Amino acid sequence: MSNISRKEFIELTGLSLAVLLIPSCLSSCKKSNPTPSNNQTIDFTVSVSSGALSQNGGYIVQNGVIVARTNTGAFIAVAVACTHEGTAVRYVAASNSFSCPNHGAKFDASGNVTAGPATTALKKYNTSLSGTDLRVYS
Ligand code: FES
Repeated sequence: MSNISRKEFIELTGLSLAVLLIPSCLSSCKKSNPTPSNNQTIDFTVSVSSGALSQNGGYIVQNGVIVARTNTGAFIAVAVACTHEGTAVRYVAASNSFSCPNHGAKFDASGNVTAGPATTALKKYNTSLSGTDLRVYS
């Protein structure tokens, strides 16, 4: 029967713990990204009779989409997650554009990049108003 030293025991168990913990960190340490995948179908309806969309310049975020009411009363919708690193963009009514608070990327009302570091447009969604129900869809 062999005896192992205390030092050997700690080294062996420490290595075992490290081997056990590495896979869990790899899976849980991944960056989360709220962007709906480009293939995901978007189709939902929101009421514009109350809340932020009842007023020009207001916006909401739902199902990974930012829906805004421009200062002229039109509705626009694009993916909310910045194409740079996934931060939620904000609607800027004064310039009818979207801005990322993380690194400063800017997008026009159609989601096209107007300032980096993002290089890819935000996915644009269709909107259709029926009474006070706004349909947002891909
Ligand atoms: S995450 Fe939006 S500019 Fe970097």
